[in-house]
Amino acid sequence: MKIGIIIHSHTGNTLSVGERLKEVLLVGGCNVQLERVLAVNEDPNNKASIQLKSIPDIAPYDFLVIGAPVRGFSQSPVIKAYLSQLPDIHGKKVACYVTQHFPKPWLGGTRAIKQMIYSIEEKGGIIAETGIINWTGKTRENQISELIEKLSRNLVSQP
Ligand SMILES: Cc1cc2nc3c(=O)[nH]c(=O)nc-3n(C[C@H](O)[C@H](O)[C@H](O)COP(=O)(O)O)c2cc1C
Repeated sequence: MKIGIIIHSHTGNTLSVGERLKEVLLVGGCNVQLERVLAVNEDPNNKASIQLKSIPDIAPYDFLVIGAPVRGFSQSPVIKAYLSQLPDIHGKKVACYVTQHFPKPWLGGTRAIKQMIYSIEEKGGIIAETGIINWTGKTRENQISELIEKLSRNLVSQP
């Protein structure tokens, strides 16, 4: 099984979680790639419509992990643009997670995850797991470890 970790990250938080997951999956013998979604203009305060410049192709992957930051109590506009341009992904399993600054999920994370789930299911994807990392929460490290454990538990045993 080929696993694709698809990340949008501006300041590196979401990317660092994706990289740690990748390491664990590699050690577990998985076939895994990490690819980044990038916008032409990565300024988070950019108000113009998002143009993507790096658009990872999900076709080679059997399982996707999609990670992105929370922006303005919502999913990041960049991941929104990426998800909306995806082709039909009927039957593909997808895990998604967000990182957010605030210590409580209701300060953006929960809503962002709901929006990502909606976009993924609209394309026919099957949600396997979700996660929210509260970057300034006291339990951040535990949240990251638990997410990685949750995601890798089943994947490392798949051929
Ligand atoms: C424009 C903007 C809006 C943000 N809005 C929120 C928010 O609503 N809630 C929150 O907890 N964090 C918010 N953040 C913080 C980011 O979600 C957080 O720092 C995240 O971990 C950044 O991920 P990255 O390093 O992968 O880009 C915002 C950041 C920016 C730049």
